Amino acid sequence: MGVEVSVEGLTKSFGSQNIWRDVTLTLPSGEVSALLGPSGTGKSVFLKTLIGLLHPEQGSVVIDGTDITQCSAKELYEIRKLFGVLFQDGALFGSMSLFDNVAFPLREHTKKKENEVRDIVMEKIDLVGLTGAEDKLPGEISGGMRKRAGLARALVLDPQIILCDEPDSGLDPVRTAYISQLLIDINAQIDATILIVTHNINIARTIPDNIGMLFRKELVMFGPREQLLTSEQPVVKQFLSGDRFGPIGMSEEKDEGVQKAEEAMQAAGIGGGGTKDDFSEIIPQVQPNPGMPERKAVARHRQRVHEMLHTMPPNAQEAIRRSMEEEDRMRSEADAHAADQDTENVPVGAAHAAGEWTPAHAAGSDYAGSDAPTQSWATPPVGQNANDNTVTQPIETGQFRQPNDGRSS
Ligand SMILES: Nc1ncnc2c1ncn2[C@@H]1O[C@H](COP(=O)(O)OP(=O)(O)O)[C@@H](O)[C@H]1O
Ligand SMILES: [Mg+2]
Repeated sequence: MGVEVSVEGLTKSFGSQNIWRDVTLTLPSGEVSALLGPSGTGKSVFLKTLIGLLHPEQGSVVIDGTDITQCSAKELYEIRKLFGVLFQDGALFGSMSLFDNVAFPLREHTKKKENEVRDIVMEKIDLVGLTGAEDKLPGEISGGMRKRAGLARALVLDPQIILCDEPDSGLDPVRTAYISQLLIDINAQIDATILIVTHNINIARTIPDNIGMLFRKELVMFGPREQLLTSEQPVVKQFLSGDRFGPIGMSEEKDEGVQKAEEAMQAAGIGGGGTKDDFSEIIPQVQPNPGMPERKAVARHRQRVHEMLHTMPPNAQEAIRRSMEEEDRMRSEADAHAADQDTENVPVGAAHAAGEWTPAHAAGSDYAGSDAPTQSWATPPVGQNANDNTVTQPIETGQFRQPNDGRSS
């Protein structure tokens, strides 16, 4: 199970420039969390502080019982092995093949023999759908493939905590959907604690269990996704809708004069260019692909949310209740459907094409539109469980479910 990351009262400055202060949040073990915020609010700085690459002036980051802001270099070195990090630009070595890039942490941090290294590297390369491209240099492949290679490298030490800095930057919506789906599948497989730093609203709406937002040097909120998505706070609403009218300006903060002028424009019927989507209408979370185990974090998240429900604003409570009901309904429908289909056995061939995405790992997840009720698949795949011969079946809603294989309990 993934490791909890507990941040308390964290403050970071560069010289006299304070980046953020008094940030307190817990990344619950095995859950997927997202950190949103306008550009330049210090999201990347936060991520680097979590792995001890940057040193905060105040506060603590406790991982597995160790405060990494206080520990020795040796302890930090050990703690870092728990992490897999996908940096914003992929951070691949340009002169090394993808294989050597992915192998790098293993050669650096372990004493594994070269044949063991090869097995692990090829497994991870396969997991991210890059089989056949392992001899290519980073400069010879697309941005999406570089991201996936970066992710393969982040996964190679079997991390218990995965940090992804803008996994979507530079990717088109379809590639973004693939990489998001991959993160959910990885979470289902290894139950790692995941933090995604992003300003992609579709990722925020459909991928994480929890969402936080940094703004004006502070953590505006952090909690179950429904809490932020139904928030009435002007800064959150503006950010979600991508409107230029509101507290967020071009250089982060707006002065009073500008705000007044905008109010006058709005009163005169001039729009700020934002989407009119209703984000408080919660759409279901993306589910693991067919053949994947159930996400173990789902039950833990539910339990946790249940316990804190009474502390939340009424509209967040209502949204949480509704999404739990929706999840239950989808699950029982899927169960009923699986029971119907139990007698039919459909064999599967999960082709892995070189460098291109493979159906075993991703599907054309189309959740960009607010009217998309659930993830849908380009070609409805029928997945076969890796550990036994049970077969998963598509159901009408576009959701897939695998028969209970015993790993999910
Ligand atoms: N190593 C550094 N030294 C000095 N300032 C830095 C350093 N890293 C980041 N900053 C500053 O911290 C602020 C936040 O940066 P960043 O975390 O990259 O924002 P975000 O990821 O939210 O877009 C920026 O003003 C940036 O210039
Ligand atoms: Mg950044």
